[in-house]
Amino acid sequence: MRRNKVTVVGSGAVGSTAAHWIASKELADVVLVDQVQGLPQGVALDLASSGPVEGFDLNILGTNDYEATADSDVILFTAGVPRRKDPVTGKFPSRDELVKVNQDVVGPVSEKLAKLSPNSVFIVVTNPLDAMCHVVKEVSGFPRERVIGQAGALDTARYKTFIAMELGVSVEDVHGIVLGGHGDEMVPLPRHTSVSGIPVRELMAEDKLQAIIERARKGGGEVVSLLGRSAYYAPASASVAMVESVLKDKKRVIASAVYLQGEYGYNDLFIGVPAVLGAKGMEKVIVMDLNAEEKAMLDISAKAVRGVVDVLGYGK
Ligand code: LAC
Repeated sequence: MRRNKVTVVGSGAVGSTAAHWIASKELADVVLVDQVQGLPQGVALDLASSGPVEGFDLNILGTNDYEATADSDVILFTAGVPRRKDPVTGKFPSRDELVKVNQDVVGPVSEKLAKLSPNSVFIVVTNPLDAMCHVVKEVSGFPRERVIGQAGALDTARYKTFIAMELGVSVEDVHGIVLGGHGDEMVPLPRHTSVSGIPVRELMAEDKLQAIIERARKGGGEVVSLLGRSAYYAPASASVAMVESVLKDKKRVIASAVYLQGEYGYNDLFIGVPAVLGAKGMEKVIVMDLNAEEKAMLDISAKAVRGVVDVLGYGK
């Protein structure tokens, strides 16, 4: 029997933290690939050396050579320029300002990786997320089932965390979902949020709930402003949940950036919707029955994503 193989592209904080969780859950052999000499090798060596203590038994390779990624089952794409403070202006770029810079990183690299692992499932993490999914789909030529964006998993995790903190209940009992693009217009859905099945609005005043929605929308920015760099624990763990659902064919329903072809009224656009993730990748889009207000919010988010995607110049 062949072991699963996951390539993690980018050995920065998100990539190395994701590799850590993949290893600690013993999901797959891991290839860490990065263009910086020494970085993936160092992360891999360090991580592999925790195996005897943690009790995982996997091959963990760090390399600058893309050939070593051949025949991966999943490619977790985290490489890109993160949101760093501009040393001159002192400002942080928005996710969307990163679009051109990261298109030039993601495009050529994912084209190479797709050729070496033609049956793989790509899970994209690089920002601006929804636009980078378009880049991977365009250059790989993969069907939409095998190019999925990680955003809703993270945004939903933040939303649930804030609800649990406010109510003083276990995060395990908070259920909910966040749709839309991975930007400030994302759409948390309070009507579909519950604590062990109890509608959240029975437990929390509307102003508190709205403040949490706003905080979830800006959750990435809040971490950036505290840390001076992008978040990595929650983005990495959300990504690994998606990797796990694919590798184990779990069919988890996870909000994911999916290339829509008519669902929710959008065409040829990646945006976050609930999707069934299994061995084939994105196996099903779940179309929710949104009310007019929810749909209007999703439209605003889709419009924002479309604006960024248009910058890519793919003529769509
Ligand atoms: C975040 C950034 C990385 O949401 O998009 O944390």
